[in-house]
This record gives sequence, structure tokens and C-alpha cells, in this order.
Amino acid sequence: MSLDEVVTASIEAHSVQADSAGVDLTRGGDRGAFVRGDAQILIEAVGNLIANAIVYSPSGSRVAIGVKTEGDVVEIAVSDQGIGIAESDRDRIFERFYRADEARSRRTGGTGLGLSIVKHATQRHGGEVRLWSRPSRGSTFTMVLPRIDAPAHEEVVPKKKKKKKRERKAAKAAVAEHVRNGENA
Ligand SMILES: Nc1ncnc2c1ncn2[C@@H]1O[C@H](COP(=O)(O)OP(=O)(O)OP(=O)(O)O)[C@@H](O)[C@H]1O
Ligand SMILES: [Mg+2]
Repeated sequence: MSLDEVVTASIEAHSVQADSAGVDLTRGGDRGAFVRGDAQILIEAVGNLIANAIVYSPSGSRVAIGVKTEGDVVEIAVSDQGIGIAESDRDRIFERFYRADEARSRRTGGTGLGLSIVKHATQRHGGEVRLWSRPSRGSTFTMVLPRIDAPAHEEVVPKKKKKKKRERKAAKAAVAEHVRNGENA
């Protein structure tokens, strides 16, 4: 599937949340990457990262979604300028129901499942999640996924042409046959 479409859908699903939080969602980087897998699952995973980035950031800040193709992988990075994650929490936040800073977390009212879904979804697609963060500076979650070649449209076109050619040939043969029959009659 087209990763561009995955990113577009994930962003669209959170544009209202971003607007009401006063967070600016931006998109950049490479276009045209393709990955194998389940579009809905990947849209949800990228969406969870975007949702977190918005929730754990102050109003007026920016959340950036960037795509980078590098050899046979493609990286989808979601960066925020939010509260960041303490080093001691960085491994545990991917566990189900784990939430850093309980007091704050309770205020934001999540369940602690978002990142475990991101991790499972990414691993299921043969990839991994990386995390960079600095408390009170921000965080960047990066999904690294194996990349596949774009579907080869060039292959489809000649096939169609071939089919048309076959049809034309058959039509010609039919006409010739008709003419022959006419002459013979
Ligand atoms: N971008 C981020 N910036 C700062 N902290 C974050 C960020 N993303 C996740 N966290 C921390 O990791 C914890 C786990 O995140 P996760 O998305 O799994 O659960 P949640 O956001 O609390 O709830 P939900 O199930 O609604 O997603 C959060 O509670 C928060 O403490
Ligand atoms: Mg979450």
C-alpha cells in the first residue's frame, strides 16, 4: 500500500483533535514509499503516535510528521515539542496500561494502550519503533518499516496493450474470415 495514503488518513483522523488543542500538525519528507501490510492497522498506529503527540504537548506547539526513505526501509517520525519522557519511563511506556507520571496521565484520561498497539502493529509489519525524548523539550517516535517497490504500472500497461492488440488481431481475422467466406460463396 501507499504510505502516503496511510499518513494522509492518520493526519486527517486527528486534525480536529489538533485544532481544538491548538496544535499545528505539519507534514513533510519523502513521498512515494510503499509498504506491505494492513492499511487500517498502520493508520491506527501512526494515528496513536499523533494523538499522543497532541495530548502531551502544550497549546501553540507543533507536531511534525515526517517520512524518510532510506535503502530498503522507510521511517515515519512523529515529533512533538511537548513534556517529553523521562529516561526511566522510556522502556515501560510501550507496555500495556503503563502511563508515565500518573497525576498528569489521569488528567489526560487515557488507558495506556496506545503505544503497545503501535509497537505490536510495527513488529507485525516487520519493523521497529524508536524513541528519542528529552523531558520538557519533546519526543520523537519513529516507526521503521521495510519498504517495497512501487507497484509497477509499466507492467500493467503493456498487458492492456497486448490485450487490445489481441482483440484487434481477432477482429481483423474475423473480418478476413468474413471476406473469405463472402468470396467463396
Ligand atoms: N508524545 C509523548 N510525549 C510525552 N509522553 C508520552 C508521549 N507519548 C506517550 N507518552 C507517555 O507514555 C504513556 C503511554 O502512552 P500510550 O499512548 O500507550 O497511553 P496513553 O496515551 O496514556 O493512553 P491511550 O490508551 O489513550 O493511548 C502515556 O501515558 C505518557 O505518559
Ligand atoms: Mg496514547
